[in-house]
Amino acid sequence: MDKQNIPQHIAIIMDGNGRWAKRRLLPRAAGHKAGVASLKAVLKACAELGVKYLTVYAFSTENWGRPREEVDFLMNLFAQSIDREIDELVKSGVRLQFLGRIHKFSDQLQTKMREAMEKTKDGERITLNVMVNYGGRAELVDAANDIIINSPHLNVGNITETLISEHLYTKGMPDPDLLIRTANEMRVSNFLLWQIAYAEIYVTETLWPDFRKKELAAAIEGYQKRERRFGKLQ
Ligand code: IPE
Ligand code: IPE
Ligand code: MG
Repeated sequence: MDKQNIPQHIAIIMDGNGRWAKRRLLPRAAGHKAGVASLKAVLKACAELGVKYLTVYAFSTENWGRPREEVDFLMNLFAQSIDREIDELVKSGVRLQFLGRIHKFSDQLQTKMREAMEKTKDGERITLNVMVNYGGRAELVDAANDIIINSPHLNVGNITETLISEHLYTKGMPDPDLLIRTANEMRVSNFLLWQIAYAEIYVTETLWPDFRKKELAAAIEGYQKRERRFGKLQ
């Protein structure tokens, strides 16, 4: 791996928890639980490699359509993982952000998420964006509404790419260089629609609970072999 060419920002669609559990004849919940361990391992590896932003898809605006039992399990898992990991995150310099329409969650979970963001806000080693109740389309709608609230007297021509970027949940961060999707699905599923305009996409058959440091290294090595052109000729 070329240590001089590490992506600054990696985004991951963490997929395949259910299939991982099914293969082991376990309930889907077991797959989600194992997925948390993968996230810990990948976050640590990213920090060690010098990746500055890691953005992971944890719950989509469409995931409300899953059985009530699974949704409830995921909400509890978020709360429990915050409680278990917060001290370690602070210690290791991680700035944790929960991005998405978090006001739709229970008051208790919202408070936990906001407290976790507050406690880790000075983390300088790496930013971990956990996208929850996140949809790329919802984010763009929220950005448009936010623009009107902040500048009700805008004129035609005032809307620029910079202005829109500055109103996304990811404001102030560089766009992802590398988008990883596990479990072999060749789709974007409403993730970071604006920000992945020029991301390199890496899809692997590995299921998220099996994706650890070694698989991350393979994804980065794959990325390093790509020629990024941004529409231009070399
Ligand atoms: C990803 O794994 C986790 C979430 C969407 C919360 P899935 O639960 O989608 O697992 P599969 O796709 O059914 O295997
Ligand atoms: C995308 O995975 C959402 C998350 C990883 C949180 P899904 O499993 O929900 O996506 P689809 O349904 O396969 O497109
Ligand atoms: Mg899935």
